[in-house]
Amino acid sequence: MRTVSIVGARPQFVKLAPVSRAMSCAQDQGRPAIEDFIVHTGQHYDPGLSDIFFSELDIPAPGIDLNIGSGAHGEQTARMLQGIERVLLDIQPDMVVIYGDTNSTLAGALAASKLHIPIAHIEAGLRSFDRAMPEEINRVVSDHVSDILFAPTTTAMENLGNEHLSDRSILVGDVMLDAIRFNSSLSLLKSKILDKLQLEGQRYGVATLHRAANTDSGRLRLLLDSLNRVASDYLPVVFPVHPRTVARISTECPDWKPGPRLMVVDPVGYLDMIRLTEIASVVLTDSGGLQKEAFFLNTPCITLRDETEWPETVDGGGNILVGTSQDKIHQAVGKVLSLAADGDSKPSFSAEKYFGDGDAAGKIVAEIADFLSR
Ligand code: UD1
Repeated sequence: MRTVSIVGARPQFVKLAPVSRAMSCAQDQGRPAIEDFIVHTGQHYDPGLSDIFFSELDIPAPGIDLNIGSGAHGEQTARMLQGIERVLLDIQPDMVVIYGDTNSTLAGALAASKLHIPIAHIEAGLRSFDRAMPEEINRVVSDHVSDILFAPTTTAMENLGNEHLSDRSILVGDVMLDAIRFNSSLSLLKSKILDKLQLEGQRYGVATLHRAANTDSGRLRLLLDSLNRVASDYLPVVFPVHPRTVARISTECPDWKPGPRLMVVDPVGYLDMIRLTEIASVVLTDSGGLQKEAFFLNTPCITLRDETEWPETVDGGGNILVGTSQDKIHQAVGKVLSLAADGDSKPSFSAEKYFGDGDAAGKIVAEIADFLSR
């Protein structure tokens, strides 16, 4: 059986890793062998956003890198679509596997569906119900043209049901939980980030910021000032800055400067990010993936958005949605830190209750093998 996995952006490499590993074990488990050809669109091309994930997560090298790079949405997606179509015509796979909700996901979905190749969508059914987000369009279109929808949570299953997609949907749990469970002892062993940033034994927070709605608007300055205020009033904050955010800071607010306790660093690899997140007292982010990673690692998260695709993290007591108001952000950090000071150990957010048993990838591969044998 031949599959093609299409990825291109940082969060997709994390989702691919457990699936790729499970595919390579399929034959040992009495299933037909699955030969997976990885197409890297090149959406993320900086080594710190791409290569390091392949090496740390032990993902096989891509069969092809389309080197598409950055661009406006239409232009970037169109170039991916052209490149992916050529590869699919050449390889003639039995199935295409797409991951998450980036422009690479959308291009893979469109190219495969036009060629009538069955599609499996991993992390299907997520909805923010905000069509202004490029990712929301990518999710909706990808789900509707896919043949198997692998949902990470019951909420995702309900969303798919509401769009009349139940007959194609399977609840498998979250492959990002698989990735954390597989890699957290490795990160303890290998990551030197706390030492490098001189944070060993210290309280600190971690912040990330890259959503278009936050970076490509007047909100950017407010959010950056909020991070400075949190760092100055409460605790040092490590801020690995996404290249999109670096680019926007230089055009929107070139005079902005981080305060002394806001530690601006380059993007970090997966093992360092897990380590930083696990030991942090609080995470501030607009990333979907990091909201979950914080939850899986029992670190309280404050989400700098008005809505989340991961309401389980809020219901489970691990995430506070604050939007972008400086005062709300500040109060939320104060609340999280005072709760931590009252208790003597880390909270426990019961990842398994909402996100499966840490073997979503095994279930996905079993279903793919079954689908292709029919
Ligand atoms: C993309 C995804 C987003 C995901 C994020 C994870 C879409 C629509 N968005 O956003 O859902 O959360 O990845 O990081 O697909 N850039 C570089 N080097 C790179 C990549 C990007 O410098 O390797 C800069 C460029 O200036 C580029 C900008 O970042 O224009 C944005 O990159 P892009 O791929 O458009 O989207 P992300 O913001 O990374």
